[in-house]
Amino acid sequence: MPATITLDHASALPDELPEGALVAVGVRADHLADDAPGVAAELAAAAGFAGKAGQTMLAATDDGVRLLVGIGAPAGPGEFRKIGAAAGKAALKAPAFVLDVLARLEPSDRPAAAEALAEGVLLGTYRYEAYQAAPEGVRLEAATIVAKGGARVASAVRRGTEIGEAVSYTRDLVNSPGGELTPREFAKRVTAAGEASGLEVEVWEKAAIKKAKMGGLLGVNRGSEEDPRFVILRHRPEGRPKGRLAFVGKGVTFDAGGLSIKPSSSMESMKNDMGGAAAVVGAMLLVPLLAPRTEVTAYLPMTDNMLGGDAMRVGDVLTARNGKTMEVLNTDAEGRLILADALSVAVEEEPDAIIDAATLTGACMVALGDKMAGVMGNHDGLVERVLGAAERQGELAWHLPLPEHLRPTIDSDVADIRNIATKPYGGALTAGLFLREFVGDVPWVHIDLAGPAFASAPWDEVTKGGTGYGVRTLAEVAASWTKLPASS
Ligand code: BES
Ligand code: MN
Ligand code: ZN
Repeated sequence: MPATITLDHASALPDELPEGALVAVGVRADHLADDAPGVAAELAAAAGFAGKAGQTMLAATDDGVRLLVGIGAPAGPGEFRKIGAAAGKAALKAPAFVLDVLARLEPSDRPAAAEALAEGVLLGTYRYEAYQAAPEGVRLEAATIVAKGGARVASAVRRGTEIGEAVSYTRDLVNSPGGELTPREFAKRVTAAGEASGLEVEVWEKAAIKKAKMGGLLGVNRGSEEDPRFVILRHRPEGRPKGRLAFVGKGVTFDAGGLSIKPSSSMESMKNDMGGAAAVVGAMLLVPLLAPRTEVTAYLPMTDNMLGGDAMRVGDVLTARNGKTMEVLNTDAEGRLILADALSVAVEEEPDAIIDAATLTGACMVALGDKMAGVMGNHDGLVERVLGAAERQGELAWHLPLPEHLRPTIDSDVADIRNIATKPYGGALTAGLFLREFVGDVPWVHIDLAGPAFASAPWDEVTKGGTGYGVRTLAEVAASWTKLPASS
């Protein structure tokens, strides 16, 4: 269970604090004497505490023992995610945790900071403990944020809590092993969570997928004992929607590479290959709350990529849902094959825009590192929206091109298109060019989150393992959605 976050509207700390409560106070950079009276400057200096955003230190102040939490100059509202994470981690063993860190902010900055603070506390203290009999340490169970600011701060804390919980849900999905989270199990969990959030849920089993002629999903699934699934989640607003958005997420529950098998060490993180679908699910759980007036539909193809006796062969030709044929020259470039079908279904429903999220290429990590997603698309206005949403939500993303001169490298001798390029360079871009073939002229953006979906070490509010990357960006795009200008 994630920690519970509540808000206390008091303008100052209550006189009576719960037994053993740890109180965190915000300390601005170079304001130790004002913000933490009684703490010797030499002591703080020796502990390396200067009030920088995210620094923490336990100290005896004139008011009693306090967790000093650096808030910088003070930091911008978005940085409070990192600050909340640092405070939450430092408080892990406290039976009651009270955060009094917003008082030094301008009142107009408090709602956004409170939202990020609640997210940060939840995300920074997240743990995946499903398989641990005796998890280390004590987990944070409850935190109270103290802030004056009325209804706006209250709803911001509620929003931050909901967002933190949705991101944590996505992390749980990504962290679940491939043998546990089979396509069947993935669809089952998504159905339960979707229905609980008021979404319409459709699950297509293998027969329906065959009937829909989804040759990419079926081809990738041939090597597996586990049947595929195709899940559609819908949020339909009452009355006229502000717009109609489609999300598509790669749901490869384990990627062994197929016959073009990966080395074992490269498979170690391949339970995360459904990180795109999981991010879309997390965002969809937030849509009724954050984007009630936008119609949003999610399309989630699910399979693992195995190498059973009937696995697709190198050189096989698959026919996607929209009739295009795809020559499979590397069975490990499977994500684009299942996305081809899912994008085709999305296009048929004529949305205003399509955004896909996929752990698609190692090449994207080579280009941008493992903390930043690559963003490609056929519509600059939509690309700007996605980058803007990512920036506002503190998720790192960078625009990559879809160069026309690379398009001929995915021409096939025998089919309409081949699933790997003839040259090894620009692998993230040729994957993007492949996907572009399946969206027609619908405005579309592709987010390659192969790097940021999974963290090899913790940083800021990001914990090791599944990160939930993309949930906040996608939810923000939906929440801020307005009709796209006719540009390209
Ligand atoms: N799931 C992988 C991409 C990936 C790699 C995600 C590392 C996260 C971390 C994808 O299916 C894949 O195997 N891509 C190949 C494409 C190649 C065969 C053209 C790759 O990146 O090597
Ligand atoms: Mn692969
Ligand atoms: Zn993959």
